[in-house]
Amino acid sequence: MLDLHCHILPGLDDGSKTLDEALSMCRVAAGDGIHTIVATPHRGSFAADTTAAQVLEGIKKLKKALRQKHIAIDILPGHEIHISEDLINDIDHDQALTINHKKKYILLELPFRSVPFYVFETIAQLKKMGITPIIAHPERNDQIQTDKHLMKNLVKAGALTQITGGSLTGELGAVVQRTAVVFIKKGLVHVIASDAHSIDHPPKLSPYVEEAAKIVGEKQAKALVGDNPRKIVLGLSF
Ligand SMILES: [Fe+2]
Repeated sequence: MLDLHCHILPGLDDGSKTLDEALSMCRVAAGDGIHTIVATPHRGSFAADTTAAQVLEGIKKLKKALRQKHIAIDILPGHEIHISEDLINDIDHDQALTINHKKKYILLELPFRSVPFYVFETIAQLKKMGITPIIAHPERNDQIQTDKHLMKNLVKAGALTQITGGSLTGELGAVVQRTAVVFIKKGLVHVIASDAHSIDHPPKLSPYVEEAAKIVGEKQAKALVGDNPRKIVLGLSF
């Protein structure tokens, strides 16, 4: 399995605090059957504004420590990029990282409450650059929860979507759970990721694949943590 959204790099944002904590999180991930984690520290968010250089340096250090400790996890570069009017410029200047440097996909964060009016314009601009935005945990956004057509329209506009595993099991509340289940049923979900920030909620995916399998069957559920994120890190089309 591949975890496409994880705050694994220590000391950069509100994710893991120390290298030891990051290594412990990786151990849990490996034990759960995850072999690849995309490091996605916050970019342009109130939580943090990490630079590309910080992410790449952090990955280098973590990979070295993983090798020394014989933990079989690969770490790939990324950013959880908060939507803003600077986004395109940021990507153009390699300040906001596309997933695995492929310039094909980015992980896009929306505000928790609302969806900015210019989101469709941003999606269109990204698509013109050959980049597909993957909307991070839309099931947690107030406006997407209440406006039934918004999610469908975002996907129609060309976005992919990533839900957080814990949303499916109710760890993030009943409304979030209900929303995630409906989206999965309607085929509006492309990836399940952990969005793990600490060893208290470490990167695990298997419990959520099991939950998703009850809704869409095993084959489709497995694709959400296997085939689909694999295509994304390789920069392949859907
Ligand atoms: Fe996140």
